[in-house]
Amino acid sequence: MTQKEPITVAITGAAGNIAYSLIYRICTGELFGNDQTLNLNLIDIEPALPILEGLIMELEDSNFHLINKILFTIDPFEGFRDADYAILLGAFPRNKNQTRKDLLGKNSPIFKIQGKALSLVAKRTVKVVVVGNPVNTNALVTAKYAENIPKENIVALTRLDMNRSLSQLSRKLTKNVSNIKNVFTWGNHSASQFVDLSNGYLLENSKKTPLTELVDEEWISGEFQKINQMRGKEVLLKRGKSSAGSAANAVLDCLKSWIYGTETYVSMGVISDNNPYNVPENLIFSFPCTCKNGTWKIAKDLKPNEFCKKMIKKNVDELLEERRIAFELLKD
Ligand code: LMR
Repeated sequence: MTQKEPITVAITGAAGNIAYSLIYRICTGELFGNDQTLNLNLIDIEPALPILEGLIMELEDSNFHLINKILFTIDPFEGFRDADYAILLGAFPRNKNQTRKDLLGKNSPIFKIQGKALSLVAKRTVKVVVVGNPVNTNALVTAKYAENIPKENIVALTRLDMNRSLSQLSRKLTKNVSNIKNVFTWGNHSASQFVDLSNGYLLENSKKTPLTELVDEEWISGEFQKINQMRGKEVLLKRGKSSAGSAANAVLDCLKSWIYGTETYVSMGVISDNNPYNVPENLIFSFPCTCKNGTWKIAKDLKPNEFCKKMIKKNVDELLEERRIAFELLKD
C-alpha cells in the first residue's frame, strides 16, 4: 500500500496513563488510517522523561510501520511545531478530595503557555483536543492565548460524558449501545453536567423509539444524571487514579467524529459564540454537535425543555465563575 506523507501529532502528558492507551491505538492506524504515516511529538515534564524514554523504547519494539519519526521534549514550543493535531492530556490530576475546578490554579498557567506555543509554531489548521481538567476552562484559556488559531479548532473533551451515559442506557435497556442514538450532554465536564435524552432514540429494525418512552422520567432526572455526574470520581476512588482507557477511547471517538463526520448528535465542548441556546459568548460549553468535512456545528433545531434550560443556566453560571477565576489568575 502507498503510504501518505506524515502528519504531525503532538501529545502532552505523553508519559501518563491516558497517553499509554491512546498512543498505541493511534500507531495502529485506527484514527488516521493504515496508510497515514505519523510524526509523533511527545511532550511531558522533566521528571517524566525516563518514563517517556521507556515508552519510546516500547513503541520501537512494536515495529509500527506508520511511525515516521518520534520526538520527545519538555518544551511545547518545540513539541507543537507544525502540529496537525494536538492532544492536550498533560495537567495536574485531581485527588479524591478535589473537584475538577480545584485544579484551576495549577492548570490554567499550563494551558496559557500551551496556547501561546500552539499559536506560534503549530499549523494554523491544527485540531486541538483538550483533556486535562477543568477541561472546559483549560480549553478556553488555550483558545484565548492561541491567537493565531481559529477558536473552532480547539475542542474540550466531553465525549467521555456522552459515552458514559450511553453505557448506562445500554445496561438499563439491555440493548446494544450502538442502537442508542442522539444522547448528549450540555455544559461543563463537572458534577453539574446534564445528559439530555429528549432527542434520543433506540434504533431497531429501522424503527426509532424515543428513549423517553423506554425509561421513566424519575430515573432520567434522578439516578441517571447522578451516575454520569459522579462517574469520573467513582472511577478515581476505585482505581486510585483517573479514568485512562475510557478517556483515551473518548479522545479517539471525538476526533473520529470531527474528522470523518457524524450522522447523529455528539457531545463536544466548543466555543459558545453564536449558539441559539442563550449560552453567553466566549465559553467552552458542551453542546450537541454534528460534524462534516472536518468541521463541527452546534445543532440548531433543538427545543430544550424547562428543566434542561435550568440545567444549562446552572452550567453557564459555573463556567462563568471558572472563567472569572482563570482570567483573573492569568492577568498579564
Ligand atoms: C474523568 O471524568 O474521568 C476525568 O475528567 C478525570 C476526573 O478527574 O474525573
